[in-house]
Amino acid sequence: MDITGKTALVTGANRGLGRQLVAQLCDRGAKVYAGVRNPQSVDLEGVTPIALDITDPTSVATAVDATGDVSILINNAGISTGTSLLTGDLANIRLEFDTNFFGTLSVIRAFAPQLGAHEGSAVLNILSGLSWISFPQAGAYCAAKSAEWSLTNALRLELAPQGTRVSALHVGYMDTDLVRRIEAPKADPADIARIALDGIEADTYEIIADEPARAVLARLSGGVAALYPQLP
Ligand SMILES: NC(=O)c1ccc[n+]([C@@H]2O[C@H](COP(=O)([O-])OP(=O)(O)OC[C@H]3O[C@@H](n4cnc5c(N)ncnc54)[C@H](OP(=O)(O)O)[C@@H]3O)[C@@H](O)[C@H]2O)c1
Repeated sequence: MDITGKTALVTGANRGLGRQLVAQLCDRGAKVYAGVRNPQSVDLEGVTPIALDITDPTSVATAVDATGDVSILINNAGISTGTSLLTGDLANIRLEFDTNFFGTLSVIRAFAPQLGAHEGSAVLNILSGLSWISFPQAGAYCAAKSAEWSLTNALRLELAPQGTRVSALHVGYMDTDLVRRIEAPKADPADIARIALDGIEADTYEIIADEPARAVLARLSGGVAALYPQLP
């Protein structure tokens, strides 16, 4: 996939990783729709803001009608409420799934015909090392990202016949609002955006963006003992 000259849509495009993806897609010669809840929040020149709340089916349908030529879809919009599955508010758990899982799913379903109208097209879902490992204090986020990983695999198979390549980016912590309360080493989202776009251009199905994500992936084959050594 050569990004130059393609039309891309990025969800959650106004800040964090999404904003970096938009800027770098422009640098690589793409026409870019910045999908955002508040079009006034887009501060980059040369992009087209599109009102898009991924949890609102009417908003998603309106965004489909307002575009028409998208061949690269980046599902970046996401939330993390820091909710325990055992003791947290069920409304927060539902919101995590409504956004990270159902929101992403509904955007892909809605844009699938538009993507399929091109000879080659790409979907990139922004996942996490937490798709593969769980922390109780963020259990809802981990579960939703894990489900989003599963949908990525299923839709990769379903969309392959129409020439749409579905990939995922796995990353540890990035220095964005999403994790501003967490004290830990964090990657620069500009570096992660570059790795993500290089991954799309290299037709990589699973883009492992940093060392923390790579380390979790390596532990997966070791089962529960490798992933959760704190267990008796
Ligand atoms: N930061 C990390 O450490 C980290 C690690 C692994 C994966 N990720 C993933 O990376 C992606 C980007 O996160 P980030 O770190 O850049 O977070 P961020 O700075 O908090 O940005 C989140 C973006 O998602 C948008 N968004 C949230 N709910 C939405 C909805 N219903 N409809 C449309 N847009 C919505 C936000 O829009 P508003 O401005 O309107 O709220 C914002 O643009 C997420 O999928 C996240 O799960 C992040």
